[in-house]
Amino acid sequence: MTPAFPVRTPSFFDDDTPLPRHWFRNNGYLTHRVSSLSLLFPRGEEFFVRAVRDALPLVTDPELRRRAQVFAAQEGQHGRAHTAHFELLRATGVEIGLPIRKLERRAAWAEANVSIPVRVAITAAAEHVTAVLAREVLTREELLYGIDPRVGRLLRWHALEELEHKSVAFDVMNAIGVSYAVRASSALVAFASIIIRWNLITNYLCQQDGLNGAALRSERLRSIASVDFSISSLTRKCAPYFAPSFHPNQDNDDLLIARIRPEFAAYVVNKFDRQFI
Ligand SMILES: [Fe+2]
Ligand SMILES: [Fe+2]
Repeated sequence: MTPAFPVRTPSFFDDDTPLPRHWFRNNGYLTHRVSSLSLLFPRGEEFFVRAVRDALPLVTDPELRRRAQVFAAQEGQHGRAHTAHFELLRATGVEIGLPIRKLERRAAWAEANVSIPVRVAITAAAEHVTAVLAREVLTREELLYGIDPRVGRLLRWHALEELEHKSVAFDVMNAIGVSYAVRASSALVAFASIIIRWNLITNYLCQQDGLNGAALRSERLRSIASVDFSISSLTRKCAPYFAPSFHPNQDNDDLLIARIRPEFAAYVVNKFDRQFI
């Protein structure tokens, strides 16, 4: 049985000391890479929660229904925390309104035009991407070296919860009878969409620092080498999702979760004892 996981309500930006313009290793490219991830999360996670919520009338297993509720509550907190990060980003002088509006429009279109099973399948695939990213963040302590400590804690907490609820959307997808063909084709759409959006927003933010064309390409290569993490390595790590027998729990993260949880124990507000959706 999947272990219970709690809801936490942390606040990382009570100290509103302004962020420097480049708050990750004093490196513009890396800063904008993480900023763009932060920008993707709130509307994306709202999309995930709505997909799972819309599928819930078809889910009869009470245990899965409760896990889906805590999943929704965790994702809601992630959206709030990353939105708080936006305020500090704006104060650095970076323009983020345009990508936020575009993400809003795309998500609204998908919610109006895409069926519930496909939205749940997209959610399950996106949750695999966030689990892969989470494992990187939590197993490679050096990755966040030189990041603003408030953003670093935000990312570690988010990563912990992504691993805790990594199988919920996948199990909901199976519970409502999504076929392998829909699962795999939706995953292609989800993976491509995340990678394309992430790159486009990163480029948009870099351009505000005058990083374009060849200068941007060389800065990208230099920065990727410095963190030893690239979109192509992310893509490779997402590939097992296409195995017909794949299940998120085949990657055992229990020890990792147990190791990180004490860092955020003070923020726990409940364990399964409230209705959230
Ligand atoms: Fe999340
Ligand atoms: Fe998630």
